[in-house]
Amino acid sequence: MLKPSPGSEVAGPPPSLQPRRGDDIVPERFYRDLISGIRNGVIVIRHDGTLVAINDAAYASLDMLPGAADVGRPIAAVLADVPEMVRVLEGAFGTDPLPNRAEVKLARTGRSIGFTMSLVRDGLGIVSGAALFFRDLTRVEQLEERERLRDRLAALGEMAAAIAHEVKNPLAGIEVMAGLLKRRLTDNPEAQTMLADIIGEAKMANAIVMEVLDFVRPVRLQVEDVEVAELVQDSLHMADSLVPRGNVAVSVDLPEHLPPVQGDGHQLRQVFTNLLTNAFEALSGHGRLIVQATALASLPLPATPDHPHGPGVEITVLDDGPGIPDSVRDRIFNPFFTTKPRGSGLGLAIVRKVVDAHEGRIEVHPGPDGIGTCFRLLLPLAPSLDAAPVRLPDDGAPGGPRPR
Ligand SMILES: Nc1ncnc2c1ncn2[C@@H]1O[C@H](COP(=O)(O)OP(=O)(O)OP(=O)(O)O)[C@@H](O)[C@H]1O
Ligand SMILES: [Mg+2]
Repeated sequence: MLKPSPGSEVAGPPPSLQPRRGDDIVPERFYRDLISGIRNGVIVIRHDGTLVAINDAAYASLDMLPGAADVGRPIAAVLADVPEMVRVLEGAFGTDPLPNRAEVKLARTGRSIGFTMSLVRDGLGIVSGAALFFRDLTRVEQLEERERLRDRLAALGEMAAAIAHEVKNPLAGIEVMAGLLKRRLTDNPEAQTMLADIIGEAKMANAIVMEVLDFVRPVRLQVEDVEVAELVQDSLHMADSLVPRGNVAVSVDLPEHLPPVQGDGHQLRQVFTNLLTNAFEALSGHGRLIVQATALASLPLPATPDHPHGPGVEITVLDDGPGIPDSVRDRIFNPFFTTKPRGSGLGLAIVRKVVDAHEGRIEVHPGPDGIGTCFRLLLPLAPSLDAAPVRLPDDGAPGGPRPR
């Protein structure tokens, strides 16, 4: 370490006022490249609100195209489509302390942006600008939500399985005894009617119990090459037999050479049957149903080291029915959530479970112009199915839900 020379013992200017040695050595271009290479979004403004720097990650997170002439313009004009970000940036000069790890939701795209801010000070310590560092947290939030849902389902599943097991045997007993009694009381028409009702109700209760047991059983996939066109046609027939479509106009728009999906054909049929059944029920015999599919070279799903964003198919099921109110949209995939008098509320819960096992994703959105409902399904062509649960259920019965 260098010893201070005698002259340097005289108190010098504070460190912030000393010339910065780096300024002469590191070219300005380097700082620009540094900002553009940062993988988080960076936006820097001057005190007067003009844009000094913005990188590509920022444009991407805000769903904007880079504009060559943006630097130097007022930030309110550059980010006119994302006023929430303008408010955050402009608020920097009057906020103390500045937010660290705060979040803002963008109304236009629904994205959640996590951000941190810093003030830019000149050599005299005077604030000359503000810098915003941010990241799109939407995907992280979705993963957390799925994780939470999985935990909830696991707890609910254990409880439901225990109850269903306990209820199954007494129900079977009731059905058998009522059958015996019915055979003995052949000369009593009133008793015959009542016993027939008891048997009918016990059968229905048993069907519900079996459905719950099927639902809580881990998914076991029997993987094959599944043609999407066949899948959709078979599911349309099945849905039509469950809920006659009436005057609903159905159009299926699939490209000719759609690649097959590796998955469990039976369970994927069930996914589409449930989606189409719901659509027919929502339409009550009138309206329009459109099924479309597109091959995607790279699925917008969280990548794993073994499976970077691989190819897949996007399939949408769109109806122009009454739609799903915002207040319940978050709950429709929960088991037992139903708005129908005779619904079990397991249809979409099964859909999500099967789609998860195929490492895909299912989303629901309002249809175009806010009319109707659009379910969007993303399926990888070749999921790493070792990640999917393949445990056999304890009783050795075939896994996975049966057609409903
Ligand atoms: N296409 C749709 N249009 C309007 N609402 C829908 C649509 N699909 C689902 N829903 C809503 O989501 C709820 C849950 O659907 P889900 O398929 O899980 O259960 P369900 O149809 O009520 O009963 P189940 O399918 O077990 O007979 C429905 O009750 C309905 O309110
Ligand atoms: Mg349903």
